[in-house]
Amino acid sequence: MPDAIPQRKVHIKTWGCQMNVYDSVRMADVLAPLGFSVSETLDDADMVILNTCHIREKATEKVFSDLGRLRALNEQRRAGGRDELIVAVAGCVAQAEGEALVERAPVVDMVFGPQTYHQLPEMVVRVLERRGERVLNTDFPVVSKFDHLPEESAGQGVTAFLSVQEGCDKFCTFCVVPYTRGAEFSRPVAQVLAEARRLVAGGAREITLLGQNVNAYHGEGPDGRVEGLGTLIRRLAGIDGLLRIRYTTSHPKDMDEDLIAAHGEVPQLMPSLHLPVQSGSNRILQAMNRKHDRDAYRRIVERLRRARPDLALSSDFIVGFPGESDRDFADTLGLVAEVTYAQAYSFKYSPRPGTPAAAETDQVPEPVKAERLQSLQQLLNAQQLAFNRACVGRTLDVLVDRAGRRPGQWSGRTPYLQAAHFSAPDDMAGDRHGRLIDVQIVEAHANSVAAVPAGEPDGRPDTAGATARAERHPV
Ligand code: SAH
Ligand code: SF4
Ligand code: F3S
Repeated sequence: MPDAIPQRKVHIKTWGCQMNVYDSVRMADVLAPLGFSVSETLDDADMVILNTCHIREKATEKVFSDLGRLRALNEQRRAGGRDELIVAVAGCVAQAEGEALVERAPVVDMVFGPQTYHQLPEMVVRVLERRGERVLNTDFPVVSKFDHLPEESAGQGVTAFLSVQEGCDKFCTFCVVPYTRGAEFSRPVAQVLAEARRLVAGGAREITLLGQNVNAYHGEGPDGRVEGLGTLIRRLAGIDGLLRIRYTTSHPKDMDEDLIAAHGEVPQLMPSLHLPVQSGSNRILQAMNRKHDRDAYRRIVERLRRARPDLALSSDFIVGFPGESDRDFADTLGLVAEVTYAQAYSFKYSPRPGTPAAAETDQVPEPVKAERLQSLQQLLNAQQLAFNRACVGRTLDVLVDRAGRRPGQWSGRTPYLQAAHFSAPDDMAGDRHGRLIDVQIVEAHANSVAAVPAGEPDGRPDTAGATARAERHPV
């Protein structure tokens, strides 16, 4: 009889973008057959994986401070006669700093990049069998990890992530992603659909398709021909029980006609879109190698809003890119005022090793960056609040993904991705988790909206709305 697999625990800490979140889930899937289950804490863990982000300097620094803490923890464990934690560094810092990490941080047993975590079993066995041996695995394998990953070991819950595209060939001059994630790659359509069906069978009602440039998706279709993201979304919309589809992150240049049309035609495709522009200055857009100018971006937004007038836009901005003048920054403020966003992220430019912009001599002084960030965020925050306020009085559906702190409290997201909270009598309405509930927005906050159940003063669900939806996409 084969030996029973020893039961062990892995704690995974995730930084960075949603793709890292997805990768962490998949690492757990890869480790499950080795007897590893996920632990929410370090205390009872046998192994820790730091799934890291390299996008800005701050993100990278956090990894090194965590490694310092892990070194102290392992010393304590050794002194107490306990086995030391196996320490692994994964993700984009691992990819970028592989050898330096091995050299600078003796506590690290294993370093592997975003494209090699399907080889985790071999790496873990090597470290376990030959304690003291350290593994560095930052290749870009020719064969995709997706062809080797096991099926998901558990559902992700009501809202799930699904990576469909990875890597980037755009080489914006500020960005490390093309170096850490490698060349653009799209998963075949059939593989994506199969994973989506399994996620829905496991309880997912909303799927967010992920990619560093998700709208550059060009996967091989069933007949061998390449298909774009618009077609993929239409195919996914045919899956029974999948109520909502989102995708992120998009590059303006890859926003094609078919995808824009899908926003007007596919009811499951939610009316919110993250479309980073980074800057409103043509000069800076060019220096960033964004491959489009301000007008091209505005025209894309116009076409999108023609297809879906209520589209809630979000974006990313960088302030203080090398050479950015007051005038360039004013152009960014001007573009924001024109486009109007429902939500946005903005960052101070952070020079990244190995990227062209880091070598520029006209770096913007820190205090100027800080000042610009503050005024941009003021404008963006005001727009976000205005968007939330404009929703007050409207009836929107919320996909309930969690129960609130007190009984009868529920939270979820509106179609526009706003966090919404509402109360409903539990006993009368039953479990709302995973259901689409019509609510009326009654109050707007900076980062969320408060709501009450619509059309159910007696606490019973709004059956008319529910029936209409059930006809469209049965649960
Ligand atoms: N693929 C996406 C962005 C991925 S990185 C796109 O093309 O839009 C997420 C965001 O981090 C970027 O949109 C950018 O705003 C920010 N970012 C990337 N590199 C940065 C840097 N060096 N300094 C500051 N912000 C950066
Ligand atoms: Fe980075 Fe630009 Fe690629 Fe986005 S498109 S991941 S910002 S290089
Ligand atoms: Fe960070 Fe890598 Fe994502 S650098 S933002 S984790 S692709």
